[in-house]
Amino acid sequence: MSEAIIRAMNAREAAARVEELTDVLLDCVRGGASVSFMGDMSRDEALAFWRDAVADADAGGRAIIVAERDGRIDGTAQAVFVRTPNQPHRAELAKMLVHRRARNRGLGLALLRAAENAARAQGRWLMVLDTVPEMGGDRLYLRGGWTPVGVIPNYALMPDGALCATRLFYKDLRPERAR
Ligand SMILES: CC(C)(COP(=O)(O)OP(=O)(O)OC[C@H]1O[C@@H](n2cnc3c(N)ncnc32)[C@H](O)[C@@H]1OP(=O)(O)O)[C@@H](O)C(=O)NCCC(=O)NCCS
Repeated sequence: MSEAIIRAMNAREAAARVEELTDVLLDCVRGGASVSFMGDMSRDEALAFWRDAVADADAGGRAIIVAERDGRIDGTAQAVFVRTPNQPHRAELAKMLVHRRARNRGLGLALLRAAENAARAQGRWLMVLDTVPEMGGDRLYLRGGWTPVGVIPNYALMPDGALCATRLFYKDLRPERAR
């Protein structure tokens, strides 16, 4: 098996590969991940999410990172650049998704690092995310050096409709000496 390639994808290319990105999102939701959508999400709904994300990337609002193996997209993550005027230094990590066929090989951590680098490249040095406690993402962010700051109960629904909590995390991306 060849090595995975982790890279930022420009908006034009992401638009051309929106079906593949949709496959990854649908696989994660079908697999029970709480990533904004319910289990009965249609392909059209998933495509609409990606078309909006690509339009925002085209406008400079986010970076879309992909993990590819043998030319196929196996995973993706986004760094969303917060537009609020008083938070020009902040970005959010969003839609960290690895297809079930490609998990447990380090793609999640590599995507996380690449999303952090994409934020840094835009001068964004504070990243924030939320994730369901005790799930794969939770472990990934702890391994990636993110700081958990608390849990909010009953925050969202799992794809099957059950309420779930969320844990907030942040990471200061500046070198230690610059803080
Ligand atoms: C969370 C998620 C992105 C992790 O992706 P991944 O590619 O499997 O992540 P990694 O491979 O870096 O790490 C996953 C596990 O594999 C292990 N691993 C990494 N490389 C490995 C290797 N070469 N051999 C064996 N295990 C390995 C890691 O230690 C980790 O173990 P842990 O879960 O017990 O801590 C993925 O499970 C996913 O897409 N889930 C559904 C969507 C989701 O919940 N996203 C987060 C929303 S905030």
